[in-house]
Amino acid sequence: MDSHHQEEEHHKENGDSITHNNNNNNNDNHAPKKPKLSQWITESEIRQEFSHHDPRIARINNGSFGSCPRSVLSAQTEWQLRFLRQPDAFYFNHLQKGILESRKLIKDLINADDVEEVSIVDNATTATAIVLQQIGWAYTEGRFQKGDSTVMLHYAYGAVKKSIQAYVSRAGGQVIEVHLPFPVNSNEEIIVEFRKALEKGKSNGGKVRLAVIDHITSMPSVVIPVKDLVKICREEGVDQVFVDAAHAIGNVHLDMKEIGADFYTSNLHKWFFCPPSIAFLYCRKSPLPSDLHHPVVSHEYGNGLAVESAWIGTRDYSSQLVVPSVLEFINRFEGGIEGIMERNHKAVVEMGEMLAKAWGTHLGSPSSMCPSMAMVGLPPCLGISREADCARLRVHLRDNFGIEVPIYFQETIEEGELKGEACISGYARISHQVYNTLDDYCRFRDAINQLVKDGFTCQLLYSN
Ligand SMILES: Cc1ncc(COP(=O)(O)O)c(C=O)c1O
Repeated sequence: MDSHHQEEEHHKENGDSITHNNNNNNNDNHAPKKPKLSQWITESEIRQEFSHHDPRIARINNGSFGSCPRSVLSAQTEWQLRFLRQPDAFYFNHLQKGILESRKLIKDLINADDVEEVSIVDNATTATAIVLQQIGWAYTEGRFQKGDSTVMLHYAYGAVKKSIQAYVSRAGGQVIEVHLPFPVNSNEEIIVEFRKALEKGKSNGGKVRLAVIDHITSMPSVVIPVKDLVKICREEGVDQVFVDAAHAIGNVHLDMKEIGADFYTSNLHKWFFCPPSIAFLYCRKSPLPSDLHHPVVSHEYGNGLAVESAWIGTRDYSSQLVVPSVLEFINRFEGGIEGIMERNHKAVVEMGEMLAKAWGTHLGSPSSMCPSMAMVGLPPCLGISREADCARLRVHLRDNFGIEVPIYFQETIEEGELKGEACISGYARISHQVYNTLDDYCRFRDAINQLVKDGFTCQLLYSN
């Protein structure tokens, strides 16, 4: 039975057990009327919560922009109305309390030591700017030397690479990329390459001032052994470690004390059901660099990053205030966020394997390195030979088949080419979130099979 069917069965089972429990209660005159604590969300309630999704689209791309249920959107509207009803009272009496409440909940979710370590910002991009800005100042103020370096993964997110260029390279810092293999078979392959990059940074007496490590790379999507890499950074004397975990909260288990990074950011609008946009930036309290500031300077400048970030001028803060409502939504699922993550992971691997089998390809990593996303090889006969082909194929799938899925271009592997084998040069990044159904993936499977049957190649996408 595939996990979707299992999920349906599971919801039915829970539905049955509610009726059963209620019947028991009704029959037992001594039992006080209990709230329906065992009533997990049903399949039809999930459909209602996401009924604003375009029904024509098989949306197997939660990874890019996340999703937000209706109950949370209603809570957000309520906050917006509270603001507009009496703006002065809201700004001066309620806003800060609300943001602090969200920070406290996030602190517990990520096992930080202290709420002071948790700031709420717009998104991972903003968090990155906060971390890199103080690195840039260290160069310009002479605390770091021109040859000192920043190590980052080759698969770092494009916008993060641009930030490193803007804040670090421009200030005179060297940047060293860790070249990672893909397809990837084990954590060890990543660890070996990471060590090589650190050695390079330390050669000729250089210092590695910053390591930027993804927890889950975006494209291709792979869970990185972040705890091991942070430990290596400590052993090798790297000054600061920043984990870009834009995809992590609600996708993989998080524990700030276990991971041990100096800075860690994750978007809550990707896998944690918040509306856009909200991210947390965790900054380890000890030793906390004193030079951390929000890039948008306002009244609270100098009062600590968390306080600065909670007041960056007049704007809509509602997405930062709905964290308690998001948790209410999440707790309607068996096992809360851990249960959701476990089922999503299992389902995405199952769907990925189903697609790979149908297309005669393979997954880009072992299942243990997949979060709630998986990279699935596309048939080589589609003729994907450059980045632009992936972008066009994605649009083709959206416009002609109603499928939303990002495609990754992989330079083909020489070994296979030498043997005269066709190599997989394109991988689809599929996601699984609570609203997805088996039909979403079957539609994708059938669309690709149809293209193959029709003799389609990406060259045809350039004919008009
Ligand atoms: C790895 C990674 N880092 C950073 C970001 C930036 O996130 P945002 O656009 O919400 O700032 C993304 C977005 O997809 C990402 O995948």
